[in-house]
Amino acid sequence: MSLHIAIVGSGQLAQMMAQSGRPMGFTFSFLAEQTDDITCVKGLGDTIIRTDQTPHTLFSQLGEPDVITVEKEHVDIELLTALSKLTNVAPNTRALEAFKNRHSEKAFLQKQQIPIADYAVVTDKASLEHAISTLQKPIFLKTQEEGYDGYNQFKITEDNQHTITQEITFPGAWVAESFVAFDREISFLAARNTKGDITFYPCVENEHHNGTLIKSIAPAPNLPDAINKEGQTYLKRVCETLDYVGLVCMECFLIDDKLIINEIAPRVHNSGHWTSKGVPTSQFENHIRAISGLTLGNTEQTLPCGMLNLLGVTVTARQVEGANNFLTLYGKATKPKRKLGHITVMTHSQAETKTELARLHTIAYSPY
Ligand SMILES: Nc1ncnc2c1ncn2[C@@H]1O[C@H](COP(=O)(O)OP(=O)(O)O)[C@@H](O)[C@H]1O
Ligand SMILES: [Mg+2]
Repeated sequence: MSLHIAIVGSGQLAQMMAQSGRPMGFTFSFLAEQTDDITCVKGLGDTIIRTDQTPHTLFSQLGEPDVITVEKEHVDIELLTALSKLTNVAPNTRALEAFKNRHSEKAFLQKQQIPIADYAVVTDKASLEHAISTLQKPIFLKTQEEGYDGYNQFKITEDNQHTITQEITFPGAWVAESFVAFDREISFLAARNTKGDITFYPCVENEHHNGTLIKSIAPAPNLPDAINKEGQTYLKRVCETLDYVGLVCMECFLIDDKLIINEIAPRVHNSGHWTSKGVPTSQFENHIRAISGLTLGNTEQTLPCGMLNLLGVTVTARQVEGANNFLTLYGKATKPKRKLGHITVMTHSQAETKTELARLHTIAYSPY
């Protein structure tokens, strides 16, 4: 079986999906917007730049893919719906649509009885003022669409609330969220294939810096079994309700051993990058397996792992060398805050994982 897979997007996630699928005999093409950087996918397949092509033309330019998948949430649902008449789209457009918009995402999760932070929809000055007077500060005001890595978000505090009310212009579509005083952030990653089989990765603990993931530790240290089960139950429910196919990530807050779901990413996820080294089947390979109707691969972890993101900084292999340290650079030009690569570490204890990540953090970030 040799499939041709088209990926919407041309960044490092598309790169790593293609790098996982090519040794399995699959071929790839990529659909990029005119403003997208396409260096990550150079040499991995044809890249088609979106202009005003019809869905039929795009389908043909993409090499008549057997399946179309995505590396991001901000996709053109109308286009993918049209393409789904010509070939398989996985995850399906219903799932992509549910998680593209923070309001529809929250409404969906509530309907599934999955706990989320208190929130309010903000579309004008009156609804913004109402949100400010009812929600827990600092309030996270997020655009309903096109937010990622903490971009397109404002934190509303007692001190800045008046200035922010002046600064936000309407019409606009936002959600305002109560502050969650979390003890830690964790994420659940699962893959579900076309047969409906589902496989989980060990739950991951994540640390963010200014809204962007910087460190992950897997498995999440001292996670109560009940929380693990609860998270898996929610994610399974999400997948089954939407007949989801592919890799999915559920980002959560943990507060006093209470689980609150932050958001769902219908794609491979940065908090799963460690799986490229830490388990037999990476999130990228399992995504490819899932969407191509194959059996899901083994996700059992034998050694504790950690991952450090390289945000706007790079290192040399020599600087971070170690028998169980693995550097992945995406080949992108350096820009402040940009995700340029990551380092995965495998250790013999979680204490060692933390120490090694801290050491690598100093090496990577201290010159800046
Ligand atoms: N309601 C909240 N309470 C506390 N922290 C939050 C809240 N919302 C977001 N954050 C912090 O900001 C990070 C990024 O927010 P998130 O909603 O996940 O946006 P993005 O889509 O940009 O990843 C979160 O991982 C968390 O650290
Ligand atoms: Mg997030």
